[in-house]
Amino acid sequence: MLAALALLACASAAAATAAAGTPELGHFLDKARGIEDWLVSTRRLLHTIPELFYEEHNTSATIRRYLDELGIPYQYPVAKTGVVGTIGSGSPVVALRADIDALPIHEETGVEFASRSPGRMHACGHDAHMTMLLGAARLLKGMEKELKGTVRLLFQPAEEGGAGGDLLVKEGALDGVKAAFGMHVWPTLPSGSVRSRAGTIMAGTIQFDVTVRGRGGHAAMPHLTKDAVLAGAAITTAIQALVSRETSPFDSAVISVTRFSAGDAYNVLPDTVRLGGTMRGNTEESITHLRRRFEETVASTAAAHGCTAEVDWMEERMPYYPPTVNDPEAYKFAIDVASRLLPDASQAGETEGTMAGEDFAFIGRAVPACFLFLGTRNESVGAVHGLHTPRFTLDEGVLPLGAALHTALATQYLEQWHVRQPQGGGGSGTAGREEL
Ligand SMILES: *[C@@H]1O[C@H](CO)[C@@H](O)[C@H](O)[C@H]1NC(C)=O
Ligand SMILES: *[C@@H]1O[C@H](CO)[C@@H](O)[C@H](O)[C@H]1NC(C)=O
Ligand SMILES: [Zn+2]
Ligand SMILES: [Zn+2]
Repeated sequence: MLAALALLACASAAAATAAAGTPELGHFLDKARGIEDWLVSTRRLLHTIPELFYEEHNTSATIRRYLDELGIPYQYPVAKTGVVGTIGSGSPVVALRADIDALPIHEETGVEFASRSPGRMHACGHDAHMTMLLGAARLLKGMEKELKGTVRLLFQPAEEGGAGGDLLVKEGALDGVKAAFGMHVWPTLPSGSVRSRAGTIMAGTIQFDVTVRGRGGHAAMPHLTKDAVLAGAAITTAIQALVSRETSPFDSAVISVTRFSAGDAYNVLPDTVRLGGTMRGNTEESITHLRRRFEETVASTAAAHGCTAEVDWMEERMPYYPPTVNDPEAYKFAIDVASRLLPDASQAGETEGTMAGEDFAFIGRAVPACFLFLGTRNESVGAVHGLHTPRFTLDEGVLPLGAALHTALATQYLEQWHVRQPQGGGGSGTAGREEL
């Protein structure tokens, strides 16, 4: 759907090179740096009130309060606790997404604006994501009259396990949207870098619980039992062959058994064993294949030990997240915009994917989209800890960059969309895309 973008991307990259030293879109960064104090205080406020998925009531109320102050109309509730704001009007519509939920982690950073909810922490940087989008909202509102279309602001709940992105799509929040962009702070990439890739950037993920049933008995007389422990151990080993022997070496998959429980005595073989974990792949096809072969391998390995086993994919509790697949043209467009925004264009470019999951995947399945990593590693401010750890620390110096990047992606998308529309707008097959 973004076929004409490649040409434009090349043309503007050349323009950026010509004007080396002064990035063509640098004024967005200057504007965002002008509201840096506001960004930092917004982020710190949000950081103190972390809430788990679909419980983001205070967070959602805080977002709405900011939007009210900025005079930005919004829809609420969307996907239970989500908020969808609107800036500008008319076609096309471009969407910017931030996730808003936190994690069941007890914060150990020691910062003065630490979580005020014990056992809850913004350890995945979603406080920064909300802040960057609010910053972009403020900048975009200030240039609303010049906007050549509509910017839809998606404050999405429940990324961490609740598939809020799926619900957002199902409730129509992406209807009429031509392209969507989202970003994640990324503490393994240096602060100030913007990286992504065409195609799969994050894995599809699904969780499994396996119950192995045998027949317990005296540990000294195993021949009178059906040993579920040995069957469970064999299953744990056998399923690794699905990664090494059934996945193309050019493809990626992960199966990790992370729970294994059985028995409670030293001389009694138990009746049942439970094991669980996660399975990941980078295409929907490979995950479908792996699911089928996982079930077959579990059943036949259990049978080989005289036991039975059943697999529960637990999709009601922990929904399947498809792979996050970036549209190649949306990727080219986004990296081109980033390279025209950053002081050093070489800080925008390609990165390898990760087998972590992300429910932006549902948005990428609904519309052409690109998900970007925003580097936040900065040793001088202690921003070296991983996501989902109790000491995760954000380099707040990247907040203006995130706000500026959202702003630039939206404005540049709207601009180039009009440039590549056929004259008159009617008649041809391409123009048909305008119909929402
Ligand atoms: C929500 O806000 C209220 C009042 O501002 C506060 O008392 C409460 O602790 C907050 N809850 C959470 C989970 O942050
Ligand atoms: C790291 O943080 C310091 C202090 O805020 C800042 O001066 C420096 O530019 C940051 N480094 C990068 C790579 O952004
Ligand atoms: Zn996370
Ligand atoms: Zn996250």
